[in-house]
Formats: sequence, structure tokens, C-alpha cells
Amino acid sequence: MLSLSNSIEKMLRIALKRVCLEVVEDSDIVGLSLDPQLVTASKKEFGDFQANCALSLAKPLKKPPREIAFAIVEKLQRDDSFLDLCEPPSIAGPGFINIRLRTKCLISEFIDRLEDKRLGVPFVESKESDKPIPSVIIDFSSPNIAKEMHVGHLRSTIIGDSIARVLEFRGYSVLRLNHVGDWGTQFGMLITHLKEVAPNALEKVNAIDLGDLVAFYREAKQRFDNDLAFQKASRDEVVKLQSGNSLSLKAWKLLCDQSRKEFQKIYDLLDINLTERGESFYNSYLQGVIDDLNDSGLLVLDDGAKCVFLQGVTGKDGKPLPVIVQKSDGGFNYSTTDLAAIRYRFSSPPDGDGASSVIYVTDAGQADHFLGVFQVAQRANWIPPDAHVEHVPFGLVQGEDGKKLKTRSGDTVRLRDLLEQAVTRAEIDLRERLKNEGRDEDEPFIKNVSQTVGLAAVKYADLSQNRITNYQFSFDKMLSLQGNTAPYLLYALVRISGIYRKGGASTLPVTQIQFTEPQEWNLLRDLLKFDEVIFVVENELLPNRLCNYLFELSQAFNRFYDQVPVLKAQDPQRSSRLALCRLTADTLSQGMGLLGIPTLERM
Ligand code: ARG
Repeated sequence: MLSLSNSIEKMLRIALKRVCLEVVEDSDIVGLSLDPQLVTASKKEFGDFQANCALSLAKPLKKPPREIAFAIVEKLQRDDSFLDLCEPPSIAGPGFINIRLRTKCLISEFIDRLEDKRLGVPFVESKESDKPIPSVIIDFSSPNIAKEMHVGHLRSTIIGDSIARVLEFRGYSVLRLNHVGDWGTQFGMLITHLKEVAPNALEKVNAIDLGDLVAFYREAKQRFDNDLAFQKASRDEVVKLQSGNSLSLKAWKLLCDQSRKEFQKIYDLLDINLTERGESFYNSYLQGVIDDLNDSGLLVLDDGAKCVFLQGVTGKDGKPLPVIVQKSDGGFNYSTTDLAAIRYRFSSPPDGDGASSVIYVTDAGQADHFLGVFQVAQRANWIPPDAHVEHVPFGLVQGEDGKKLKTRSGDTVRLRDLLEQAVTRAEIDLRERLKNEGRDEDEPFIKNVSQTVGLAAVKYADLSQNRITNYQFSFDKMLSLQGNTAPYLLYALVRISGIYRKGGASTLPVTQIQFTEPQEWNLLRDLLKFDEVIFVVENELLPNRLCNYLFELSQAFNRFYDQVPVLKAQDPQRSSRLALCRLTADTLSQGMGLLGIPTLERM
């Protein structure tokens, strides 16, 4: 209904301006806000929208808000194009203007939706017609080589993927970047250690698996922390690697390949599409960052380290905090790489991506890091004036006890295990349900449904929370057929598709669609909100808004289906109601698709 609300907003704006001009001089109008403040009605009984502007204009116009509201309504009542779309508006409370769409208008939107694969969601347009469609980089997932991917990376992967899907659906050109941690001191330690204890790992493909690699990494780290000679050897090794020594590079590549294969298994399982461009990619751009910062006068030498002092960000002692870009030993760090990355991403091709927007999906713990990086990039003029950069933070994954998610033995949870466990549990639930329902299904069916439901449950549980808050991981909750869960929605969809399949194709021309019951109107109004919800997700980068919508939609559907006969009704009701079923199914499956969740025909 976005196009309808946009039209209504324009009409309101004109009415509002006229009212203001009757009260103030032409020259004073510039100081007034002519935003009608049109929002979705706070309660369904009030209509579809409400305009709240009369309240905030009371003071500048020196008139009671109700009087202003009356004046606006009076203008609207004389506007034929407004009355064509809406019933005559009413005024409520201190001066809210309630607006209800005409039923013929809702029906014609509904008919359009039935024919529209995009369900009313328009393609993004570029702000100026001669400019290309904005291109967005989403930096997400980004695990570290030689370390296990952990639940934080899982959250980033799931949230980032869903945001990417929504933006792609809107028509943005999206580059999904995996900024893997594949560079830095950890390789010095690891290579030095492996040379001694498992040289074959550095020479042969597949000599060790990721589990071993992680264990070796832990050992190496321990030695590094306790053994000075080992520290020195590791540092020398990093220098060799960074200066392109072929043997070191070969060892490094082997290690990366090993991890990469392991990460890919998880991406395949979750149907995640990513372009890997790790930290190492920016190696040759690091010196350029330092030079640029030096040229723009931002670089300060502090205790041997090169840094940029932040403006407006101070430490406990009240002094400005630095972003260190080159350590006193000459080494670069995480921030330097991110600065090189941001500079590259906003630079024009061929030595850059020419992005108009860059979004980083990481845990909230990195907020300060990005704050610093963004500020330095801004001050160094690497971010074009009309470009946009945003950190999309998320909270921690906790166990049901509210503490950090751990295995029973206290280890960090491996992602593979976690996903496998979700699938196994889904399978147990399914077999139980099939037994209770007296159904006999073959093994491929059981495997497919369990896999889809198990993974969907993990994804949806994550996405349905406001990402900012910490989220409690509970297999029982996420796999439940009740409540705001993936199994509930998948099941609702199976049921609805079944109903409309049973109903058969409609013989009634769409022009004869008609609704009589409040449950039908309610469902219809919810269906027509899809485009608006996508718009909100795009702007706020909050996939949980879409989850909540889908959940509410399926509840509205249940109320409709429980209280209004569909298959047993006579035409035109029967066909009209079946059309509602079809649009509900289409909307649910489109919505789930944008969350990265595949749907099922039967379950
Ligand atoms: N590898 C980092 C980590 O595991 C995440 C990288 C996020 N992206 C970035 N451009 N810094 O925490």
C-alpha cells in the first residue's frame, strides 16, 4: 500500500499547506514543517492511516490542534481525488486525523497483487536518472582462517544474508563480501609451529583437517605467549610471508584452503552465497593508507606508533582515543586493513569497487572499532559525500542459562555440530508427529523435511529477534510448532497452499471479487502491507520486522480460516476467499525466501 499512502501523503501535504497559508504570511511558511506525519493507524478500528501533524502545528500556528485538524479535513473533503481513494476522514482525540481507504480501492490493490510476482514491491530507482542503480557492499560472515567459525559468525552470516536478499530483491546491485581473517601474526606462529611438529601439513593438501588446525593454532598461541625464541621466529615468519617469500606463501595458501573448505560446507548447508575477499587482499594497499593519512595531516607519531586521534571519542582519562594504524615494530593491524578496505570499496574502479553504500554486519563488540574506522575514513575524504556507511551490530548468542553458549564440557560450540543437532532434533520431532498422525512417509521425505525444518529453525530463531539484543539459543523453542518459529510458519504455509489447491482454479473473473466479513478485510489489509514492511527492513536493516509481519499475517489467516467458511462457501465468496488464500501463501513464501528460508510442499 506504499503507493497509496504516498498519494495520500501528497494530498495531505497540499491541504496542510493551504491551511497554514490561511493563518500565516507566505514568507513565514518556510519555517513550518509541512510533513503530514502520516503513519499506519494505531488501531485497526481507526482506519488505515492517521495523520498526526495537527498536534505539532498547534504551537507555531497558535491554534488548538483540533481546529487545525478540522481545517485540514475540510480541505480534504473538497478534494475529489482524495475522496476517490478514501472515505471522508474523521478526527479523534486531541486532533488525530483518521483515514480509511475505500473498499473498492483495497480490492483493486488486491487484484493487482494477485497478478504481481513482486507483490507490490517496486524496484529501486536511482536518485538521478542519469546515475546507475546504487551498489551496496555487505561485509558479513567473515570468519578467521585456522580458527573455527563460531556462533557469532553464524549470526553475521544469517543476518547479512537476509539483508542481502532483501536489497537484491529491491534491485540494488549487491556485492556480498567475506572479509575473512587470513592475514597477520597468527600465521607466523602457526607456520613456525607446524614446521616443527607437522611439516607435512605445510606441504601436502588435506594433510590435516580444520579440527587439527585449530588445535595446532592453540598450541602455537601458547608457545608464542611463553617462549621468547618462538616469538622471534614467528615474527620473522610473518615478515617473510608479508614480503612474499614463496615457501611461506605456499604454506599460508595450504592453511587457507583447508579452512576455506570447512567454511564452505557451512555455507552450502545454509545456502549462503559469498565472495571471498580476505584481509590479505588489502596487503598491497596498506602503505597507501599510511601515506594518505600522512598527506592529509591526520597521522600522529605516538610512542613510536603511527595513529590518528579521534575527535569526540575520549578514554577514561578524558583524552582523545587513537586509532593505531602502524605499530612501532612497523606491523599493520585490523584497523589498518579495515581502513584500506573502506578506501578501496568507495574508490572508483579499476582500483576500487565504486560502492555507494557499505554495510558491516558484526557483533556489537566491534562498534568502537567501526566508529573509529568510519571517522578516520571520513576525515581522510575516502567516503564520497552522498555515500553511506553503516555498522549493523548484533548481540551475543547465549545458552538457555543466559550465559555464553558452551558445550556441556565447557568448550565453545562448533557450528557444524550445532546445525547437525538442529537437524537431528527436527527429525526426532518429525518421526514422532508422523507416528501420532498415523502417517507413513519414505526416508527421503523424512530426511528432506528434517533438514529444511532444522536449518530453518536456526535461521529464523536468529532473525526473529531484534538483532541488537542478545539472543538465547534454545532448540526446544526454535523447533516448536507453536509460536513465532520457522516450523509454525512452514506449517501454516503448507496448510494454506493445501486449501487453495483443494479449492481448484477459480472460474470467477477477478472483477467479481467481493468481501463481506471483517476477518476478510483484516487479512486483506495485512497482505497489502508487504511492500511497506520490505521498505522498513531495507531502511532499518532489521529482518525481525519481516519475521513479525509474517507471523502476524499467518495469525490473521488463522482467524479468517477458523471463522469464515472457504471451501464450503458459494461463489463469489468461495473464489474470493480462495484468492485470499493464494495471496497469503505467495506472500509467506516470498517473505520466507527473503529470510533465506526455503519452503516445503508437505511436512
Ligand atoms: N574476522 C572478524 C572477526 O572474526 C570479522 C570481520 C568483520 N569485517 C570487517 N571488515 N572488519 O571478528
